[in-house]
Parts: sequence; structure tokens; C-alpha cells
Amino acid sequence: MKHPDTFYITTPIYYPSDKLHIGHTYCTVATDAMARYKRLKGDKVLFLTGTDEHGQKIEDKAREAGITPKEFVDNIVSAPGGILDLWKLMNISNDRFIRTTDSYHEQSIQRIFKRLYEQGDIYKGKYEGKYCKPCESFWTETQLVDGKCPDCGREVADAQEEAYFFRLSKYADRIQDLLENTDFLEPRSRVHEMVNNFIKPGLEDLCVSRTSFTWGVPVDFDPGHVVYVWIDALSNYITALGYENGQYQDFETFWPADVHFVGKEIVRFHAIIWPAILMALDLPLPKKVYGHGWLLLDGGKMSKSKGNVVDPVILAQRYGVDALRYFLLREFPFGSDGNFSNEALISRINMDLANDLGNLLSRTVSMAGKYFAGGRLPAEQAEGPEDGEITALAASLRDRYEGEMEKYAFQNALMEAFKVIARANKYIDETAPWVLAKDEANRPRLARVMYNLLECLRLSAVLLTPFMPQSCGKIFDQIGAGPELRTWESAGQFGGLPKDVTVERGENLFPRIDVQKELAELEAAAEAAKKAALPPLELEPQLEETVDFDTFVKSDLRVVKVKDCQKVKKSNKLLCFTLDDGTGIDRQILSGIAMYYEPEALVGKTLAAIVNLPPRKMMGLESNGMLLSAVHTERGEERLNLIMLSDAIPAGAKLC
Ligand code: MSP
Repeated sequence: MKHPDTFYITTPIYYPSDKLHIGHTYCTVATDAMARYKRLKGDKVLFLTGTDEHGQKIEDKAREAGITPKEFVDNIVSAPGGILDLWKLMNISNDRFIRTTDSYHEQSIQRIFKRLYEQGDIYKGKYEGKYCKPCESFWTETQLVDGKCPDCGREVADAQEEAYFFRLSKYADRIQDLLENTDFLEPRSRVHEMVNNFIKPGLEDLCVSRTSFTWGVPVDFDPGHVVYVWIDALSNYITALGYENGQYQDFETFWPADVHFVGKEIVRFHAIIWPAILMALDLPLPKKVYGHGWLLLDGGKMSKSKGNVVDPVILAQRYGVDALRYFLLREFPFGSDGNFSNEALISRINMDLANDLGNLLSRTVSMAGKYFAGGRLPAEQAEGPEDGEITALAASLRDRYEGEMEKYAFQNALMEAFKVIARANKYIDETAPWVLAKDEANRPRLARVMYNLLECLRLSAVLLTPFMPQSCGKIFDQIGAGPELRTWESAGQFGGLPKDVTVERGENLFPRIDVQKELAELEAAAEAAKKAALPPLELEPQLEETVDFDTFVKSDLRVVKVKDCQKVKKSNKLLCFTLDDGTGIDRQILSGIAMYYEPEALVGKTLAAIVNLPPRKMMGLESNGMLLSAVHTERGEERLNLIMLSDAIPAGAKLC
């Protein structure tokens, strides 16, 4: 039986088909903050994340790269700079990391699949779809692009493939009831979409095996079939606890999960398919699935193929891991989409972390150090009329914060902590310690003011620890709060620090950022990264259509020498060439290459031209022919090179 003080929380397992971006980091950081919060409260926490490593896409990408699928995923997951390193950098405190290629997981999947088959929840049928022969891929009607294969653009044909199906339809009523009549799925706004779009139109049985690719868990009782996607991926949440394997013994302690955090596009799989699989296995259901929103860039979804992904490593290196973690959970309400921008990131760091929290810490600690010898407050202190409101606000912070955290409202929880921080900054202005410091008689009052400020910092820092673990540790060090004053219990009351606490000034935790300079540098870095991600060389595909020889030889290609070359007035593109074509009469050709060449550099060069094109007027000048050049694209930029020939070849020589 699961103990009430245990807490099992998961992220989705990520596809290691590309490097992860800030959107993936968002979900993992949120899960980490929740796991750390529960640990702070004293729960026994199991925080699971991992990678979803099977499937056609990985198989295809590995083939393209000329390596095995396992080598391919290892490069993205466990090689230096991979997913494991990213989570280390982001200070993610996961207790376990599952890879669906781990042998214990594969063994469990085979057992789960077999059991569902033997009890009749999985049956053999025919998968029907549109098949692309060259790609060996099935597509649904909606995946096709203009009725053709979305990968290669070729014709597809109706085809059938033997496959296993899971009886999802059998569980439709129970799932509708679960969604409508319990708190299983949050935010509640997502329930309506699930029920109306997917359950009410009729749940179809789900195809759970494939024979068209091999990179998956083999169905052990039917060679040729591999388990297809969702049974393999979703079951990670139980196999990682030891369900149907001997690797771990945590199933009894931690299942059912307290919450699965998932992005909104995979809510459907977690709120419909996953409970159905668990019902079929006769296992308790997770207590909650929370579908968070997406981080958008310029209003659209980030995607590697669009080239608009934000790299968390660059941001963490520039601003610090904690600042990035804070921003992600403070800026966007967890259940809704949010627009990521560098401006928002920098202004949030400057406003909240540099101005409010950083300033409060450095002002308080430096004043305490300046006004009291060795930074030690005297125990004799005097209350004042300004104290009541701020101490009450700080003392009740933990309750308000807890209320928000229990609802996964990270943004609100952080706002509560920052209300205390803002109030403390105002308290400095109200009490004006620099005025108190002028008169020795005010020493007890001055000490009390400092003490109240330190307590506000301490209580806030305890509750900010799940979000900014390293920075809060440094705050505690500066304000003299030992381990027993960093706990959840100690954050429930105002007045935990000893009256004669000693402060120790340390580094400035959140330096202010120069917005303009930083934005320019970030843009340049993003541009460089975008370029680096582009294919180094792109060539125009060769034409499939043939041209007959007689047509080809009608083009009169000649060697020409440049006698003069000028920019055409009012045109950014055109150069006007005066050429010797061997006839004794100058030939004028206009060419749109002004952005590639300085005209004077071309004088005297030997080039190739087609000379029997009909005359054409451009910008009021006549062009008689065309110069030949070679064109290709390099890292997204078009490159052009005029065909230059040896100066030993005379003008007028025919090219053939
Ligand atoms: N492998 C599946 C999940 C299987 S769980 C049993 C998968 N992987 S994924 O790598 O494509 O996505 C993992 C998670 O990252 C999803 O929850 C997805 O919503 C989240 N995000 C990917 N891009 C995102 C944003 N731009 N913003 C927020 N989250 C995003 O789906």
C-alpha cells in the first residue's frame, strides 16, 4: 500500500531524435521544483524522467547518419552535451532516469503485452492506411500532403498490414466518467476537449504493433512485430518502479503516481490511453495528469525543423541556471501557453532578481555589516510601529505559498514570496536605517529593523529553494541561517534566526543586465546557431526531364573577355558588361550579380556566355545574352560564382 507521505512525480519521457530545447526544459524544471517542494515538506519523493527511444523516426535518422539506432540515441542521451548533461546543468534532482531501451523495461513491456493479449485486451487485426513503398511507411489520410507521402512526395497506395490492436473502445465509458467526475485531469479546461473531441465521436481500438520497422520492443510470441509507441512509452511510469521486472522494488511504495506532468499535445495519450491500459492491467490509476501549456516563439510552436528553437544551455551559461529556472516558472502560468522572448527573460531577471531580491539581500547584509561590528546584531532590540504589517505578512507566507503549490500554480506561489520581498524593500524606506544609525540611542531599533529584514529574506529563501536551490543556499550563508533554519518547519514562524545573528557579505547574486547589449549579443548567437544547424551545402536537384541533343546544341556558348563593367544606376542588382566576343563588335550583357562582385574587379576576366538569347531590356538598357555562373546554397546563404576561364583562351571560342 502506498504511504500518504510518499510522492511520485514524472515528466514525459523525451524523444531523443534531436537536442532538447527550452520547451522540454520548462517541463523538467517545473517537475523538479515540485519534487523539491515535496522533499522540503518531508515527503519521500520519487522523481522520474527519461527518454522514449524507439520508433521509426529514430530508425530512419540513424540510417541517414550511417550508425545503429542505439548509437544514435546514445549520442543524444548519454554522450557529453546530451540530455543527461543538460539535466545536470539545470540542477534537476531526478531520482531515476529511464531509457526505454533499458533491458529491464523491454522485458516488462513484453510481459505486459503478452498478458494483455492472453486476456483478450489485445487482438490481432489488420492495420489499413496509405502506404509509401519507397519509404516503407504507412500514413493516415490526414498525414498526407496533397495526397502524397509527406516524406518523399511520391504516390501512396491503399494497403493493409497485420497488426495487434488494444481494445481501447471497451474502456470509453469508464474513461469518460473518470474525466468528467473526478479531478484526474487538470487544468479542467482540458477535460472538455478530451471528451468532446475524442471520446464522444467514438474511441477506436488502438494499433499497438508494427511490422514495417524493427526498432522497437519485439513481440516475443510473434516474430516480425514490434510494440508500437504508446504501450512502450506510457508503461515507463510503472516499469521504472519495478513492475514486471526485478530491477526495482518500488512499485508498492510509490504507485499510483501522484502526478504526471505532460505537455498539452500528449494529454490525450495520458488521459485516455494510459488509464485504459492500467484498467486492463487492473492497476490503480494515477491521481492526476496535469497538462501544461507550451512555450511559444513569436506565437508559434518551437520546432527544430522550423529552426526556431531556444537553447537552454546558452541562456543558463549567460544568466545562471537559477535565473533561468525562476523565469520559466514565474513568467508563464503553468496551465497556459506563453510567449518566450529574450526581452521578457532579461527584464524579469532585472526586475525581480536584481532589483528586488538581489538588492534587498545586498542592502540588508551590507547595512548590518556597516552598522554593527563584525556584522553581528546586538540581542537588545526594540520594536517599532512599522513592524506589525511586515512581520504578519512574512509569517503567513508559507500557508499562502503552500496553497498555490498544491494547485501547481508556480507563478502565484512565486508572486507570494516576492510580495514579502517587495514589502521588505519598502520597509527599508519607511524605517530609514541610515537615519537611525546616526544616533547611538537608536541602536536597539536599528538592530530590530535589520533583524526583521533578515527574517523576511530567510522565510522567502526557504520557499524559493525549490526554484533556485543554489542561490538560496548562498542567501542563507550571507544572512547567517544554519541548516535548521532552512527547513519547511522553520519557515512557518517569524523569528527563527537568533537575535544576535552574524551576517557575512558575499557575492552579488543577480547582477543587473545591460538590456540592449545583451539582446544584440543573444540575437547574434541565435543567428550563428541557426546557421550552424543548416545543412552546410545545398544543391539544386538535377532535372529529371531530359533535353534532346538537337535542342541543346542550339545554345551558342562562347568565351568572352570583359572590356568594361559598371554598376547600373538605380539598381542594386545589375552590372552592365561590355564584352569582347571575338566578332570585333562590343557585346553588352546585363547580369544581376552586383551583390557578389565589385565591377572593377571583373575587368579583363575571361568568362562564359550564351550569346544567342533574344535581346532583353532591363532598367532601360539592352542585354544581349547571359553570363554563366555556378550557384549553390551554403548554410542558408545563396552563393554565386561566375564561370571564369583561362585567359589563354581567345574571345569567341565556342564552348561545347
Ligand atoms: N515521447 C513523448 C512522450 C511520451 S510520455 C510517455 C513525447 N516526447 S517529446 O520529446 O516530443 O516531448 C516531451 C514533452 O516536451 C511533451 O510534454 C511536450 O509537450 C514538451 N514540449 C515540447 N516542446 C514544448 C514547448 N515548446 N513548450 C512546452 N513544452 C513542450 O512527446
